[in-house]
Amino acid sequence: MQAYHQLYSDAQQDPEGFWLEQAHRLHWFKAPQQAANLKTNGLADWFPDGECNISYQALDAQIEAGRGEQVALYYDSPVTQTKQQWTFNQLRDEVARCAGMIQAAGVSKGDRVVIYMPMIPQAAIAMLACARLGAIHSVVFGGFAAHELAIRIDDAEPALLITASCGIEGQRVLDYKPIVDKALQEAEHPPQHVIVYQRPQSQASMQPPRDIDWTDTIKDAVKVDAVPVNATHPLYILYTSGTTGRPKGVVRDHGGYAVALHFSMHYVYGLSPGETMFTASDVGWVVGHSYIVYGPLLFGCSSVLYEGKPINTPDAGAFWRVIEDYQATAVFSAPTAFRAIKKEDPHGECLGKYDIGSLKRIYMAGERLDPATLEWTENLTGRPVYDHWWQTESGWPMCANPVGVGATPVKPGSSSLPVPGYEFAMLDPQGRPLGANEEGSVCLRLPLPPGCLPTVWGDEQRLQDSYLKAFPGYYCSGDGGYMDDDGYVFIMGRTDDVINVAGHRLSTGEMEEVLAQHTAVAECAVVGQPDELKGELPVGLVILKNDVHITTEELQAQLIAQIRETIGAIACLKTLYIVPKLPKTRSGKILRRLIRQVLQGDTVAVPSTIDDPDSVEMIQTVVKQQNEARKVS
Ligand code: COA
Ligand code: AMP
Repeated sequence: MQAYHQLYSDAQQDPEGFWLEQAHRLHWFKAPQQAANLKTNGLADWFPDGECNISYQALDAQIEAGRGEQVALYYDSPVTQTKQQWTFNQLRDEVARCAGMIQAAGVSKGDRVVIYMPMIPQAAIAMLACARLGAIHSVVFGGFAAHELAIRIDDAEPALLITASCGIEGQRVLDYKPIVDKALQEAEHPPQHVIVYQRPQSQASMQPPRDIDWTDTIKDAVKVDAVPVNATHPLYILYTSGTTGRPKGVVRDHGGYAVALHFSMHYVYGLSPGETMFTASDVGWVVGHSYIVYGPLLFGCSSVLYEGKPINTPDAGAFWRVIEDYQATAVFSAPTAFRAIKKEDPHGECLGKYDIGSLKRIYMAGERLDPATLEWTENLTGRPVYDHWWQTESGWPMCANPVGVGATPVKPGSSSLPVPGYEFAMLDPQGRPLGANEEGSVCLRLPLPPGCLPTVWGDEQRLQDSYLKAFPGYYCSGDGGYMDDDGYVFIMGRTDDVINVAGHRLSTGEMEEVLAQHTAVAECAVVGQPDELKGELPVGLVILKNDVHITTEELQAQLIAQIRETIGAIACLKTLYIVPKLPKTRSGKILRRLIRQVLQGDTVAVPSTIDDPDSVEMIQTVVKQQNEARKVS
């Protein structure tokens, strides 16, 4: 504990010295002399006089350090029976050629490139290639439907889109190109070109000259060197759900991000260069950006890119098999993945088939790690299991066990201690700091350390409104929680309309907007409900317009299909209730928290501000009736 407190206080007392020292552990074209430039909004621009390129730091600099023949990337795809690997030398060459192909398609420094790809190595290669050119990538998760892709295209206004012919979900081949074509039709700012990686499982139909074939083009592309960029130059935009239908484009820089990730590889994950990290996530999420692609590579580790699920590809031993095959030292996934394994293989029979001797630690994030899953995983594997808390906005852990400087005791339900550089404050609604064990809004004192979002793409006002306005001087995370007497942080869940479904961050407000578009719907509300496997699932309540003639079953089926079509299958909205009224305040605000409690069957204290106290009972009755009808059918 002492080493942790020392490091934490070093970062508090001399943040500039602390982070400059960390920065000097990486390769720079021009080493920074200044750590931070404080902005009027309270955030900092990190290493403003430094010049670097994260793609160079992740590849070329590793080769210069003598790791050229070490494996950089393993691709493991049980869904296509494929295993491939690239050394740092091979990956650098492939990335340099891919950068040449992207440049030839008209992309230059500062241009945006949308990447809509499944979990194939070409996704990571394309990301590193964009970074090499100083182009800004924006990866869109493959589970999003055409409309979601179109919204992101219109916000980023890319010069190029890179995709693959298909993704593979278990046994199913999902064609990506029709989704891309539909999104491009809908978008007002479509890119001029689309590069398509044709997979053998499905051939995409091409529209030349707009569409360019990856395999045909890359073989003749010239290799391009990494372009030195200012440390504050944007590396990527990653869209994340907020409270409205319009996702927020979280921006990340090159220099601060590289320094933060490099620090975290040792401090949080306890890794050493040459070891293997297996992060079972998706490149479409921040976890994939930070700990499948950039973090492991720029620390000289090998990374596993896994195209499969924790179960059914082919069984609940999948993660253990990957750990054995690549001798992984650390594995990281969402608690939901381990809950899925636990459900299929409660006694660890699948685990028994593999040798996980290389594994030292297990990490989970994306949602709260429930004590039961923590205990089960620890008992089964005999390895320490660490919860750690972070967000798309932070880009790297804000709260974690300080494994690299000496692990501290694990407290079930807590994601451990604030990471150096992050000063936590639990605030009450008036912005007053709360004491130990008092629950409030989890906030971080400004400025934030390197790696965190400098802005929201093209929308400084949204940065203010979403994160900085609620509590002046603090970044408001949107989560609620408390700190105990030992300084351990307990994150209790979102305080806004964001829910976490199977580790995927989704907006209930956005689902409401989609439901409201149906001609039969007068009003609606979507709230999250606890789910044993996925953590949370959305549930919809809908009020019909007068004179609507449609059966409940028909309407439910149509609304569920509308959500899948517009947002994507990952939204998982499968339960809808048709209700006569929604509980609201007298000023017309829907009481979503109350609805959540009613659906959970909790005893509810009806607030005095409610406009119609009977509305609660009406919902209780409808939910009961419809649940009984479901059981019968
Ligand atoms: N492309 C297209 N569709 C996708 C997709 C992708 N990349 N990812 C998920 N989907 C689809 C699924 O096929 C499923 O479709 P269906 O309703 O037609 O069956 C739907 O979206 C819901 O997916 P999901 O919630 O993932 O459920 P699942 O039953 O397929 O798998 C888990 C459940 C727990 C095994 C899975 O969610 C998992 O491994 N989660 C780990 C979470 C994770 O990596 N989080 C990232 C942060 S660490
Ligand atoms: P995302 O931006 O998709 O990474 O989602 C971030 C959100 O996921 C956070 O704001 C939390 O609500 C939740 N989350 C992530 N990690 C944890 C964790 N370890 N414990 C509790 N909630 C978490």
